[in-house]
Amino acid sequence: MAESIAFSRTAERAVIYGELLPQIESLIADETDLVANLANVAAVLKEAFGFFWAGFYLEKDGQLVLGPFQGPLACTRINMGEGVCGQAYSSRTTLIVPDVDEFPGHIACSSASRSEIVVPLFDVGGEIRGVLDVDSERLDDFGPDDRAGLEAVAAALRGKF
Ligand code: SME
Repeated sequence: MAESIAFSRTAERAVIYGELLPQIESLIADETDLVANLANVAAVLKEAFGFFWAGFYLEKDGQLVLGPFQGPLACTRINMGEGVCGQAYSSRTTLIVPDVDEFPGHIACSSASRSEIVVPLFDVGGEIRGVLDVDSERLDDFGPDDRAGLEAVAAALRGKF
């Protein structure tokens, strides 16, 4: 297994996502443990982009429960349909929130978080299993490149559930 990742530190995010994806795929290729794989993916996203918070919530008994992440401590349980995470899960679609203060029902795990993107996670059978949540301290920090990049990361994880 690779001991480090390589990426262009000065490049646009779209370029970096493109560089990271094959490395993420090879990082998780031979490991079957879900927590181990999600932990390394969270670490890669944090290292490459310096995101304020990057991590996973996984569906357990009808709630979203905190999984591997990088960043400040976070809420451990989110009800379906609540917050950005619960709404992305329930709607099975990626949500980009440019200003969390303007999002009805946003769950403020940290007052420093200003914008957010949440991507649903599906398994190979098409069942939704959780979400990938990335938070920023900057307003309006996420756009189509992040959606495409993070949805590609989610797709790479499909076979790991
Ligand atoms: N803000 C999220 C909760 C998770 S944390 O930000 C890590 C939400 O509204 O779902």
